[in-house]
Amino acid sequence: MNSRQIGDSNIMDNSNVRWAFNANSWQPTLDQILAASSYIQQEEKERITRFVFQDDAKSSLIGRLMMRKFVHDSTLLPYENIRFQRDDRGKPYLANAGDVPINFNVSHQGDYVVLAGNTMKNIGIDVMKIEPPLHKNVPEFFRIMKRQFSEREWSKILSYPTELKQIACFYRMWCLKESYVKNIGIGITVPLDKISFSVKSELKVGDIVSDTMLYVNNTLKEDWLFEETLLDDRHAVAVSFQQDRNVKTSPVPYDSLSFDDIVRDAKPLVEPDATFASNFISKEFKKI
Ligand SMILES: CC(C)(COP(=O)(O)OP(=O)(O)OC[C@H]1O[C@@H](n2cnc3c(N)ncnc32)[C@H](O)[C@@H]1OP(=O)(O)O)[C@@H](O)C(=O)NCCC(=O)NCCS
Repeated sequence: MNSRQIGDSNIMDNSNVRWAFNANSWQPTLDQILAASSYIQQEEKERITRFVFQDDAKSSLIGRLMMRKFVHDSTLLPYENIRFQRDDRGKPYLANAGDVPINFNVSHQGDYVVLAGNTMKNIGIDVMKIEPPLHKNVPEFFRIMKRQFSEREWSKILSYPTELKQIACFYRMWCLKESYVKNIGIGITVPLDKISFSVKSELKVGDIVSDTMLYVNNTLKEDWLFEETLLDDRHAVAVSFQQDRNVKTSPVPYDSLSFDDIVRDAKPLVEPDATFASNFISKEFKKI
């Protein structure tokens, strides 16, 4: 993965980012969680505390810390002034943005937490782990998901010769759909087969593909661009935004962040919360 200077205060460098954090390989220490507890809002702590599993608590916490880092890096708003709220469909936004243009979206699934941020335009992101269904065989799983995909999409998915490749294409399409509905903030409240994708280039780790086309109700939406890649051979990710296709821009590579990268410049909002930290650390892990 490409890596660039973290914490650079140059606004231009920080205005359009893609970040990835491997939550699965992070074993948080009590000190890290204590510090993190001082960087987030009370309602965020309450939500994280309600998770049964540490896996979910970690992903949610990292997502919130990444949002703060992006807002701070891209706008230079002091950490102490950053407050998030959610709209009526659950999408987080910067509460006290004023005239500051800022757009970001987080996704967490499988091993990763990812953030896409752009100061100028709405953005949506989704990451999915590519894995066979847990309690079903692949044809049964596809039968259940039949109505979520268009004829065009099913014919592409089923064109692959092995079930693993079909599942990989399925999750690629799923990321595309989610990145679109998350961009416009509606979530999965619309018939997903009406949001249909035509994919061309194959995904590869380290390569960003941006020739996928979107059809909504069978109408080509040329002004929507999707940047897709594999974070590793088991995680697909897609980012969506609107863009004039005649304006050529370079796809944005992912920076792989560590916990220290994410909190390097963070400033406390409140005192560290020992109860939150010990509850967090004592949560059980999902059994796979
Ligand atoms: C939003 C939604 C698409 C998330 O999909 P998902 O694959 O389960 O989750 P992801 O990991 O990709 O994304 C979750 C993150 O997206 C963001 N998010 C939440 N709601 C969102 C929305 N409506 N649009 C965009 N982003 C949203 C949050 O940062 C969230 O992280 P958090 O749960 O730690 O706060 C899905 O939950 C959904 O469709 N919900 C329905 C929303 C709705 O209409 N609710 C009715 C009113 S409650």
